[in-house]
Amino acid sequence: MDDGLRSGVEETPPFTAKELGMKKKYALAALGLVGALALAGCGGGGAGSAGGGDGAGSTDPGDLLIGVSMPTQTSERWIADGSAVEAGLEESGYQVDLQYAGDDIPTQGQQIDQMITKGADLLIIAAIDGTALSSQLDAAAAANIPVISYDRLIRDSENVDFYVTFDNYKVGVQQATSLLVGLGVLDAEGNETDVKGPFNIELFAGSLDDNNAHFFWEGAMDTLKPFMDDGVLTVPSGQTDIEQAAILRWQQETAQKRMEDLLTSTYGSGTKLDGVLSPYDGLSRGIITALQGTGGLGANIEAGLPIVTGQDAEIGSVSLINQGVQFATIFKDTRKLAEQSVVVAEAMLAGDEPEANDTETYDNGVKVVPSYLLQSDIVYKDNITPLLVDSGYWTQAEVDSGVAE
Ligand code: GAL
Repeated sequence: MDDGLRSGVEETPPFTAKELGMKKKYALAALGLVGALALAGCGGGGAGSAGGGDGAGSTDPGDLLIGVSMPTQTSERWIADGSAVEAGLEESGYQVDLQYAGDDIPTQGQQIDQMITKGADLLIIAAIDGTALSSQLDAAAAANIPVISYDRLIRDSENVDFYVTFDNYKVGVQQATSLLVGLGVLDAEGNETDVKGPFNIELFAGSLDDNNAHFFWEGAMDTLKPFMDDGVLTVPSGQTDIEQAAILRWQQETAQKRMEDLLTSTYGSGTKLDGVLSPYDGLSRGIITALQGTGGLGANIEAGLPIVTGQDAEIGSVSLINQGVQFATIFKDTRKLAEQSVVVAEAMLAGDEPEANDTETYDNGVKVVPSYLLQSDIVYKDNITPLLVDSGYWTQAEVDSGVAE
């Protein structure tokens, strides 16, 4: 089976930190920001010597301030990401300004503006809307502050220096694979069985302003399409476009509402729903709430609840998987992502080249952003212990209670 890895993986970083600095100067010149160009020019090439704040000119981590901008605290994964990045940076001796934006685009813009004003020497940003930060990134470039795009690609800007993330297309492949395994169309090893359905499924996608949502969808649809073409899978609602399936801001309540609407419009007269592709655990829990509340379905898969997928291994969903309610999730170890962002930040601040392992896939509309991609795993009920408990991501008590301690 196609493992979903798309383009070739390269080991050579495309730009040195110095070249990145020069690219910024060219971009500024193109924008006609002559004064800013002079400022950037004063800073020299190395990011560590060029940050905007008190630490400018210093390579002592204690003098350097890193701004960390996270989207929201309503999802526990972003809380874990923020804490892990902060802890990793502090361990390396940096000062950290960590901010959460409450999923509000103007708030995130203001928080980043303030980080720049405070003299941040580097920014790590997980964008709410990947297309909404151009003016902040222009200001960062004018102050020669390098920017790392964290998990979600910042689009439409020349001034994104590096991207740390997971192999997002492959995450989509894994989500679809887990749905097919749940339906019995694939076995646990991912091989096709002689189970041919037909099965009725519905499709959910993430927030369209999040670049990742498109990668997840593409990976999932490339995997499901052959089975849809063969008639093994049918989407009775007919809603097979990402625009129809998308859930703005990844909101659980919006997913619950869409699932309720689908049940009413399409499944009212006894049509059986066998599975739901969900790209994020928060959506999955909204979908499950809708499924449990309507149509007299039982509370778990054995009693007839459809197969529901997920992503992020949030504890609420891991617990539901353990109880046989949600079928699967995708584990992206945010500890490793945080660690990688610290490695990249340290390299940039030391004026070294951050190591990229993908320099082809992530075109942000203006340029291909050099990236470091991490791998993810599918979590089913029977591998919760080795993947999540043994690795210390969640304790057994948390899995049992469904609550993070
Ligand atoms: C995506 C991220 C997913 C999930 C989702 C909702 O950008 O890659 O892992 O967290 O946002 O928060």
